[in-house]
Amino acid sequence: MDVLHFWLRRRRERFMDVISVPVTTEELDATQIRAVNRLRNELMRDRSSEAVAINGRVKAAIAAGVAAARAGTVVDWGCGGLPIVPYLTGNPDFAGVDIDPVALDEIRATGLRGMSPDEAATFTPARSPCVVTGAFVLHFKIDHAHVTTMARLVGTDGFILANVYRRSLESRENLRIALKERHLLVTSVHDPAELVGGHEFWFIATPEATALHAGTVLGAVTATLTGASETESAD
Ligand SMILES: C[S@@+](CC[C@H](N)C(=O)[O-])C[C@H]1O[C@@H](n2cnc3c(N)ncnc32)[C@H](O)[C@@H]1O
Repeated sequence: MDVLHFWLRRRRERFMDVISVPVTTEELDATQIRAVNRLRNELMRDRSSEAVAINGRVKAAIAAGVAAARAGTVVDWGCGGLPIVPYLTGNPDFAGVDIDPVALDEIRATGLRGMSPDEAATFTPARSPCVVTGAFVLHFKIDHAHVTTMARLVGTDGFILANVYRRSLESRENLRIALKERHLLVTSVHDPAELVGGHEFWFIATPEATALHAGTVLGAVTATLTGASETESAD
């Protein structure tokens, strides 16, 4: 890549539309992600902001899908310091997973279980079905080891439910392939509210769990979102 294109590329990348990053979100390394997290935390402190409102609507939609399947355990992957917990109903067992130790410290300080991806690799869900939720995380790089752990956690009767955006079509396809290699199928729906550009919700599960739950869960997700109108960025 020549110098001009490098800088043009630098200028184009944005996180939450206002944080400028040198590469795509998916190309950020762990150190860069932690730096972005600190800036994001500042922005998310404004509880009246559009970003906070959109983030809440996405979590509410995912939580509706979780409730529709009566999850016994919820593992919130990429939980940050603001996990999905306030939106959950039915009192499932809960654990948050994040690559950022600061985020884990924050949620542990509130009494929640927080795990690194390595710790999640050996975690046994107390109750089934286990649902792995992902709010605004699947546009980051997801290591193959992380995909393997998520597949293990959901087993044959659980599922992953996450929103996806910012990924190119090719990148989405690569993630689908990585999931398929672990016998997990993706059923996706376009966000009817178009809360953010190119926004989809992915239900990810074995063919058997897909047949049982995908329709109900994604129906609950889209029903929760219906009625929205604005398009913003709220990573
Ligand atoms: C945009 S924040 C979203 C946080 C929270 N889910 C929310 O909606 O408020 C993304 C979070 O995912 C974490 N993250 C990024 N890549 C990850 C990965 N591969 N595995 C686990 N966590 C990851 C980041 O550290 C960050 O805390």
